[in-house]
Amino acid sequence: MVIEVVRIGQRLVRDDRVTTHVALVSRAFGAKKIFMTEVNPEIKDSLEKINKTWGGNFVVEFIDKWKTIVKKKKGENFRVVHLTMYGENINDVQEKLRKEENLLVVIGAEKVPREIYELADYNIGVGNQPHSEISALAILLDRIQKGEQFKKTFPNAKRKIIPTKKGKNVHVKETRD
Ligand SMILES: C[S@@+](CC[C@H](N)C(=O)[O-])C[C@H]1O[C@@H](n2cnc3c(N)ncnc32)[C@H](O)[C@@H]1O
Repeated sequence: MVIEVVRIGQRLVRDDRVTTHVALVSRAFGAKKIFMTEVNPEIKDSLEKINKTWGGNFVVEFIDKWKTIVKKKKGENFRVVHLTMYGENINDVQEKLRKEENLLVVIGAEKVPREIYELADYNIGVGNQPHSEISALAILLDRIQKGEQFKKTFPNAKRKIIPTKKGKNVHVKETRD
């Protein structure tokens, strides 16, 4: 399954940390790419540094209009999952989602435009209480992939963690640069 993420809007400056965390969760939980509107360009640099150190080729792409990418992806056989506390409870939809081939997950920052509820193939609530796009995204990705995402390796990593009960064990790859 290919999973990509779109973050709609952010409150300028105030949301940089949240946006970075949304991107980190997307990468660490198995999504291939994130599309973002109205963001600080440093977020892309941070994720590129993370790729260099910890591997993989997670992509951050800045976009002007969320609607253009949502429509494009629908045409490329992606089902659109909009995360919203008003949506169907994830417990009731997760089985169906696991059978989809490609998913584009849409999350908001503050109030999202009404249109996304109509464009989405699924409007899904991770519970029906307000919380956070970071937690909603992490739980959705975990429910869909049932923990399998944590078995994946990130190629060309300079550093690889060897899980250990106590302390830190990191394998550092020798490179010439
Ligand atoms: C801080 S919330 C803003 C919610 C806002 N009041 C609204 O009406 O959309 C930011 C984003 O977190 C996600 N979110 C928050 N609670 C959620 C929940 N219970 N289930 C799914 N997504 C949620 C949604 O993607 C939402 O757009």
